[in-house]
Amino acid sequence: MSDITNNLRISQRAQAVAPFYAMEFGKQAAALEVQGHHVVKLSIGEPDFGAPPAVRNAMREAMDGRPLPYTAALGLPALRQAIARFYEDQHDVGVDPARVVVTAGASASLVLAAAALLDPGDEVLIGDPSYPCNRQIAESFGARVTLIPTTAETRFQLDASSVRSNWTDRTRGVMVATPSNPTGTAVPADELAAICDFARERGAWRIVDEIYLNLSDHDAQGRPPRSVLSYDPDAVVINSFSKYFGMA
Ligand SMILES: Cc1ncc(COP(=O)(O)O)c(C=O)c1O
Repeated sequence: MSDITNNLRISQRAQAVAPFYAMEFGKQAAALEVQGHHVVKLSIGEPDFGAPPAVRNAMREAMDGRPLPYTAALGLPALRQAIARFYEDQHDVGVDPARVVVTAGASASLVLAAAALLDPGDEVLIGDPSYPCNRQIAESFGARVTLIPTTAETRFQLDASSVRSNWTDRTRGVMVATPSNPTGTAVPADELAAICDFARERGAWRIVDEIYLNLSDHDAQGRPPRSVLSYDPDAVVINSFSKYFGMA
């Protein structure tokens, strides 16, 4: 961080954040490429199929010199409606567009969700291994993260019994990514429903990251796995254009 901070005094919160090693390796890979090396990158989840043509055309049009004014803070109404429609079409769940918030990637939505839901001292349950940013984000808002070790038996994901046995009076929420990064494994729907029920009954929130859901194997009818919203309509769902739409 020192190269950009000069003499600024950095908060203890910022200093306590561990590096995001995937990005650090990505940086090193980019530096090697500049030197002319061929690098096979296994660090960052970057689709190679590019944004859909309609998106590329719309972006070109928008860059024609027209004014680029502020938009509604929660996102363009038409985009929020389209996202709600996507969940309806793909997952058969009705989502009120008023509940859709557009951010700059899932990363920003994870930060904002944590800001909205966490108070200092709150406990948050997260499986280990899991997407490493989540524990940093939660801790940045003063939360205490309980990393629950997982095993091959649960495909390195949380299950209801481990959530139950790690729950305390201070637990305020659970964070799950399904399918997960780094393992790619998903929590079975009945297991996730049991986790969500258990948390909801205790007044705790559920943040469920579905960024890889539509990239997972579809069923014989060509449908993706069920969204958590089909059994927990009040879960805080994180999704993104980065992976499924190739717009990292
Ligand atoms: C599980 C998970 N959540 C969130 C993100 C961040 O997504 P975005 O690029 O939309 O900020 C990633 C990126 O790799 C991820 O793997």
